[in-house]
Amino acid sequence: MTAVLVLHGPNLNLLGQREIGMYGRLTLAEIDVAIRQHADTRGVRVECRQSNHEGVLVDAIQGAAAQGFAAIVVNPGALTHSSYALRDAIAAITVPVVEVHLSNLYAREPFRHHSVTASVCRGQISGFGPQSYLLGLDGALACLDRL
Ligand code: DQA
Repeated sequence: MTAVLVLHGPNLNLLGQREIGMYGRLTLAEIDVAIRQHADTRGVRVECRQSNHEGVLVDAIQGAAAQGFAAIVVNPGALTHSSYALRDAIAAITVPVVEVHLSNLYAREPFRHHSVTASVCRGQISGFGPQSYLLGLDGALACLDRL
């Protein structure tokens, strides 16, 4: 069965209590349930991981293919705007990567308008709340001709 790795970056473990007006009331665990349910309807398996640590995310990206993942959906959190290490890790692999954001980056502070990671991803989805992950999963499956 096709497997997709879903990576959540820094501070996303605080969803449900963090800036509720911006990110909503759902916890990360609840969002992961929704992602898994959506994956079930698509006939694929997902594994969801969260880390506050850049190196852990780099390791996960580097190891994805060897661990049997056909694609990655990643919300890099604030690392989106700063992490050349994450960018280079994504550029280094052949597994398709889709970047997702709960909020609309382009409707927020200017420092969020630039993603250093998006240009090495297959595409970016931003602004649909938790649905961004489901759309991102579909985007990843489209890259695999599985949609
Ligand atoms: C975010 C947007 C980032 O700018 C922010 O640092 C986050 C969450 C989003 O999902 O909207 O942590 O990635």
